[in-house]
Amino acid sequence: MQTKTVLFIEGDGIGPEVWAAGRPVLDSAVEKAYGGERALEWKELLAGKKAFTATGDYLPEATLTALKNCDLAMKGPLETPVGGGFRSLNVTMRQVLDLYACIRPIRYFKGIESPVKRPDLVDMVVFRENTEDVYAGIEWKSGSPEAKKVLAFLRDEMGVALSDTAGLGVKPMTPAGCKRLVRKALAFAVKHGRPSVTLAHKGNIMKFTEGAFRAWGYEVAAEEFADTVMTEDEAKNGGKKPVIVKDRICDALFQQVLMYPEQYHVIASPNLNGDYLSDALAAQVGGLGLAPGVNMSDNIAFFEPTHGTAPSIAGKDLANPGSLILSGAMLLEHIGWNEAAALIHGAVEKVISGKRVTVDLAGQINGSTQVGCKEFGELVGAAL
Ligand code: NAI
Repeated sequence: MQTKTVLFIEGDGIGPEVWAAGRPVLDSAVEKAYGGERALEWKELLAGKKAFTATGDYLPEATLTALKNCDLAMKGPLETPVGGGFRSLNVTMRQVLDLYACIRPIRYFKGIESPVKRPDLVDMVVFRENTEDVYAGIEWKSGSPEAKKVLAFLRDEMGVALSDTAGLGVKPMTPAGCKRLVRKALAFAVKHGRPSVTLAHKGNIMKFTEGAFRAWGYEVAAEEFADTVMTEDEAKNGGKKPVIVKDRICDALFQQVLMYPEQYHVIASPNLNGDYLSDALAAQVGGLGLAPGVNMSDNIAFFEPTHGTAPSIAGKDLANPGSLILSGAMLLEHIGWNEAAALIHGAVEKVISGKRVTVDLAGQINGSTQVGCKEFGELVGAAL
């Protein structure tokens, strides 16, 4: 019997419910696909409120150590209380584990009523850089002594005169940071037979950050993927390689993915663009309850549903476990257990087409019957 160990964190809010409904689906899919010859071995790690209750610490050192030494993990959502100097556990884990790539596949499941005409043409994977850009958190408040100091430096040393009242933020983007993200996206496209990778940027305006992202992206493609990746120009001139690397200015790309989704397969993007794009794309195919994701470093793939703890519905058996179930399917694809992942995708589609769905989807599907979190999980399990 081949087993694969997955460390998991249950999470806060709806976390325990979506795990209780979703994990049996993942185990059944593996059992069905491989007739008992393969299995996932789950090992729980503590984080969030459950960890605090047990250890007095929201993110125990033992959890971080175990994560640093593993290659596969999965988590439910973790609460970040607003204010109170509480550091986000998600951000802490992202930084400590250097989870630099946030990867979100966006695909359509038959039966979802979408705001676009051809949601069935949407099948993209967004690779968002997770550590740099304006999200690095380097900011100074309007009127603060720090902002005044930087404004004086800009005026006196750099010849840039700005209003004294300006709040300021810094947008750092490095060659190493951008290249490792694009490298991951290109390697994914090559490995999974995706025909194109699009670099999403605002390089026409922000030349030395977003424009540099574009340039560094093409450099990685030319230097490290010469056998398998070509530019659009090379393709026009009769080149024959499996993957095309292209770039689009991000505002235009927002229109393109709405109007011609079939032309986009993998998108590689700096942090902010990628954040907006992946949520907008998720809305085209059903929203948060069905959006899976993974954060990756070079060593660890840490899968998670992209929604939060949904406090207003927690404990009420209302949550959609679909995002967790589909994150599990992503995990199975990541380890090459594609048959089990395909069973899950088929089962989710069957249940949604049968119009028995959780409250978030019931509002989007005419004539649907609302079911609870637990029942939705059971329906998917039965449809495998
Ligand atoms: P949220 O994703 O928890 O909720 C947004 C809306 O979507 C709410 O109306 C909620 O009821 C609904 N929703 C979310 N997941 C759902 C599901 N599976 N089924 C049905 N409806 C669902 O985002 P919000 O309210 O901004 O954040 C709540 C808490 O979660 C905060 O403490 C936040 O920091 C945390 N959070 C954690 C994340 C993580 O651990 N990766 C990600 C996002 C938020």
